[in-house]
Amino acid sequence: MNDRFIRACRRESPDATPVWFMRQAGRFLPEYRKIRTKHSVVDICKDPELSAEVSVLPVDALGVDAAILFADIMLPLEGMGVRFEIRDGIGPLIQSSLDDYQKVRSLSALAPTADVPYVMEAIAATKKLLDSRVPLIGFCGAPFTLASYLIEGHATRDFLNTKKLMYNDPRTWHLLMDKLSTSMGTYVRAQADAGVDAIQLFDSWVGCLSPTDYHAYVLPYSKRVFSYLKDKAVPCIHFGTGTAGMLEEMKHAGGDVFSIDWRIPIDVAWRMLGYDVAIQGNLDPAVLFGDRDLITARATEILMRAANRSGHIFNLGHGILPETPQENVRQLVEFVHQHTMSRG
Ligand code: CP3
Repeated sequence: MNDRFIRACRRESPDATPVWFMRQAGRFLPEYRKIRTKHSVVDICKDPELSAEVSVLPVDALGVDAAILFADIMLPLEGMGVRFEIRDGIGPLIQSSLDDYQKVRSLSALAPTADVPYVMEAIAATKKLLDSRVPLIGFCGAPFTLASYLIEGHATRDFLNTKKLMYNDPRTWHLLMDKLSTSMGTYVRAQADAGVDAIQLFDSWVGCLSPTDYHAYVLPYSKRVFSYLKDKAVPCIHFGTGTAGMLEEMKHAGGDVFSIDWRIPIDVAWRMLGYDVAIQGNLDPAVLFGDRDLITARATEILMRAANRSGHIFNLGHGILPETPQENVRQLVEFVHQHTMSRG
């Protein structure tokens, strides 16, 4: 198996810097777009063979060093009793937002193998199709990011309803976070048992919080999710965007690898986090729309700042954008590999 990614997660020295891209399976590959003309995102997630096929596409097309399971952060919420849909170009929409104590109380605890058997089957099917070529990353939404969808009903700019609930109805907030963290802990544990090689916790929207509120309302719950993996051999990646001001707090929540966006230089983030963790990032996804010289210049800067330290995983700061030219992505993978392989 190509073990660059796992070695970097463990801060061992791989033969070259590993590369993968968030959202590499969905969105921009023509083969994926073709499958999407016939099937919705949720349909693909619920069909283990199709999910496996989509997950492996970028490994063949781009030469990346890891695959990510084709699923969505919203799927396990269905098992907890939440009705949602995923609207094209918008994202998740919740039918009835969870904005009071009674609604939160009625959420059930996730039983992964009974509620989302297709996720566990997709892991098995993907591992089989990968045939030990590269490791498979499983994932879940972090309690805060899931709570924000459940409370707002959809993505927002200011997360005001989420913060209002947090500040004005702490009993409901803590019950919701308690339930989400326990269910997500069980969920990622089941994924580890089903065979994923690493887990990423997606806290996509956590950067809207102050470090103080992160500490008070979020940290204990993200920490709890990671605690479910303590005795498992899978490295954990802790992802967020806009987190430059709260990295020290996030570190207390846990993770072997911290995934950062482009709003902070990678060396500054690493110094803040400490060199006892690995780091993932942090190219602006928009750079892939530039010409070859620009892409190479921005990638070189990241590699220089990472300074050959063991434990750098090259990635974007957030998901790859629709319409990204495939050839640019492929060339970037090749560039990072070649540039770091010759470092001697
Ligand atoms: O390539 C992959 O990473 C595929 C697996 C994957 C999906 N969703 C499938 C999907 C992963 C890792 C996710 C995680 C996810 N889902 C997150 C966290 C990552 C992030 O980007 O911050 C979030 C916030 C969601 C919720 C969600 N689902 C959003 C915001 C969207 C995008 C809406 C849009 O069209 O831009 C979805 C739909 C979705 N889930 C897509 C994919 C590949 C979009 C592509 C499509 O419509 O085919």
